Amino acid sequence: MSATGVHGRLRGKVAIVTGAASGIGAATARLFAAEGATVIAVDRPASPILSAHAGVERIVPLARDVTEDGAPADIVAAALREGGGLDILFNNAGVSERALVEAQTDAMWDRQFEVNVRAAFRLCREAVPALRERAAATGRARIVNTASVMAERTDLGLAGYVASKHAVAGLSKTLALELGKWGITVNYLLPGAIETGMTRAAFEDPAIRAVWAKKAALRRLGTPMDMARAVLLLASDEADFITGHGLVADGGLTLRT
Ligand SMILES: NC(=O)c1ccc[n+]([C@@H]2O[C@H](COP(=O)([O-])OP(=O)(O)OC[C@H]3O[C@@H](n4cnc5c(N)ncnc54)[C@H](O)[C@@H]3O)[C@@H](O)[C@H]2O)c1
Repeated sequence: MSATGVHGRLRGKVAIVTGAASGIGAATARLFAAEGATVIAVDRPASPILSAHAGVERIVPLARDVTEDGAPADIVAAALREGGGLDILFNNAGVSERALVEAQTDAMWDRQFEVNVRAAFRLCREAVPALRERAAATGRARIVNTASVMAERTDLGLAGYVASKHAVAGLSKTLALELGKWGITVNYLLPGAIETGMTRAAFEDPAIRAVWAKKAALRRLGTPMDMARAVLLLASDEADFITGHGLVADGGLTLRT
């Protein structure tokens, strides 16, 4: 991946990115760092987070499962220690399970809600004091949460995932309402069909790949960098008056009914 961000749009800022070892999170960590931010790049200890960004300037890896009790405090503490504050929280770690409702187990349901919703909520709550402090000093701070086009639509076998992503949208809108008075914006991203670790198995099949590419108006799958650029829009100073917004970044996948 090339470090295309050479404009310093996040110069001097400190960001947390979760799910940063792979896919959308990895690309966003790289782009944020290339744009001048110090990035706390968080992913599970079992992931390659400690080596994924080795040698990349301004990326500080943190091997942590976001669902653990002490994770939010440790992650925010890392931002304060490494960067001296916190400007941007990007809650992106996520998991998906596919099984029709009758075959969807409690464990599958709970895991999706634990990672996709509960962990994001707990990290937002933990980050608010640091974000408030930074917003008071600089005029702004940001939360961006990764939802999905499944925050507004659905597909077969995705009951738990779809419900969890609708919840991410609801959480983001409520946070936007509560935190606006401090100068903190809260927005969420709705990616379409993106080539990442989550979708690799499916998109390795050329037939499945072709179907999803053809569904999009732009006739291709999305890349992690497509998503990173959309997150950068929401994280940048230019987005000062945008809050509670769900940004669809799907190449036109969901235009047609
Ligand atoms: N790929 C797509 O087509 C697509 C579409 C819509 C939404 N999304 C969302 O994008 C986000 C990023 O996913 P991706 O597509 O880049 O997939 P990915 O699997 O490549 O990356 C997800 C990362 O999250 C990490 N993660 C999972 N559970 C974690 C935990 N408990 N603690 C810390 N890290 C954890 C994984 O280790 C992985 O590195 C997810 O929220 C996903 O739901 C993806």
